[in-house]
Amino acid sequence: MSSLKNITSLILILIAVLNCKENPEKNTDEMNTDKVNVASSEESLYRPNFHFTPKKNWMNDPNGMFYYNNYYHLYFQHYPDDNVWGPMHWGHATSTDMVTWKEQPIALYPDELGYIFSGSAVVDIDNTSGFGKDGKVPIVAMFTYHDPKKAEAKKTDVESQGIAFSLDEGLTWTKYEDNPVIKNAGDRDFRDPKVMWDTERRQWVMVLAAGQKTIFYSSTNLKDWKRLSAFGEGIGNHNGVWECPDLFPLTVQGTNEQKWVLLVSINPGGPNGGSATQYFIGDFDGTQFSIDPEFEKAINNNHDFWVDLGKDNYAGVTWSNIETSDGAKLFMGWMSNWQYANQVPTESWRSAMTVAREMRLVKEGGTHRLAFVPTEKIKGYRGKKFKESEIVVKEDTKIIDSENVDLSSAEIIFNVSELNSDLNFTLSNSQGDELSFGYTIADKSFYIDRSNSGKTDFSKDFANKKSTAVRISDSSNLSGRILLDKTSIEMFFDNGLNVITEVFFPNSPFEKLILDSEKETTLDHLEIHELIIN
Ligand code: FRU
Repeated sequence: MSSLKNITSLILILIAVLNCKENPEKNTDEMNTDKVNVASSEESLYRPNFHFTPKKNWMNDPNGMFYYNNYYHLYFQHYPDDNVWGPMHWGHATSTDMVTWKEQPIALYPDELGYIFSGSAVVDIDNTSGFGKDGKVPIVAMFTYHDPKKAEAKKTDVESQGIAFSLDEGLTWTKYEDNPVIKNAGDRDFRDPKVMWDTERRQWVMVLAAGQKTIFYSSTNLKDWKRLSAFGEGIGNHNGVWECPDLFPLTVQGTNEQKWVLLVSINPGGPNGGSATQYFIGDFDGTQFSIDPEFEKAINNNHDFWVDLGKDNYAGVTWSNIETSDGAKLFMGWMSNWQYANQVPTESWRSAMTVAREMRLVKEGGTHRLAFVPTEKIKGYRGKKFKESEIVVKEDTKIIDSENVDLSSAEIIFNVSELNSDLNFTLSNSQGDELSFGYTIADKSFYIDRSNSGKTDFSKDFANKKSTAVRISDSSNLSGRILLDKTSIEMFFDNGLNVITEVFFPNSPFEKLILDSEKETTLDHLEIHELIIN
């Protein structure tokens, strides 16, 4: 017995010695503390203040967003066991204002039919599905099953569509016993069903992405689906796979005219590289989506239409069962890009969502355009404020530092009524990291440059070039609203006609904001609000 004890102690000593050899400076206790320190410094440095992140591990697309009984629900592509993409589940979070979120237990787990890929959810008020029971309104989710075995065997029928229902307002879900409800008919990429109620025809309409096109279906009970038509072949951007479509009607601002909007994410093929979301404006007659001739003409003249010109807003779709009082749709996207999503420098969790945005349809220069602004609810979090009028900007004009307002949780609002020079904003910290963005007259373009913004070398595609966006408006008045969090910037220029969203990872928080203009430029209005989120 005692000799066994001796041998055991000997083995333990040997292990300890070997450990020390591997890392002569540290003992195991110290190494564990290091891990904890890395995690806690990552928490304080990179965990966003007002953007949704999963507590732990991997997240991509927003899924199944709906509003019901005072709660906004957000589901998301989630791999709870690792910080890289893997077998997909639907994570879940709830909110009463789309700004602060409470993570809930996982909603949908993979099963024998496959991983649970992206999809949507609707509130089936009239119980058309028959899933309702004892007067409880069913919430019905539709998602893609992705069969990893078929994918590995390089089969084509990898993806099919399934449904699930919830009788407790989205907390727990039961998968339908006759899944899949739509089988694969030979499309390799066949996914991301988005369901909506078509009021005019009193039918459910669903759109999904299939390779280089979208396919439309209708149903009266959310279980039996009839294929209606397809759209997209040869129209718009096709430099990648089409994913995560969304179809809905929207009234043109200031008119009674209604148009139909089709969003389609594409990866790669984005205007500044990698993933991005394009859109089409037209009509839907209950069977077929047809693009407006003027819109098609603009596309043929080499204009692609993008929801966001930055690199980090992908797979975004709209909330069901809610819109703003003036009819705007509510939208949220995944704030990352498949070029580097798996490598961004956070370990405990990976990636965040954009803020919720209000989406409106406007007519600008003869063409219909989508315009996005942050949800009104953000305003409820405004705290300390810096406000000035008539600020004359010359070379390196310091505007503010973190003693005035915390620049990693802030909203900047500005207006220039006579824009006649380049306008550059630079955020910086004591480590020499800089994030610059602004407007260049000669190119008539907005830009953002994160090449010196801190950690950038985790991917060759992260900061290899500035992102640019040609300005849509011709007005001499430039207005901007900018949301700053610890690792993201969301810029809404010209009332949301030009949107740019990007992420960054500084070595310490940005603490100084400098404005710079070649010629003297007057900001007739500048307001910086600290956003206080508890
Ligand atoms: C888009 C996407 C979807 C798919 C999901 C898988 O980012 O590729 O098409 O359903 O992610 O996680």
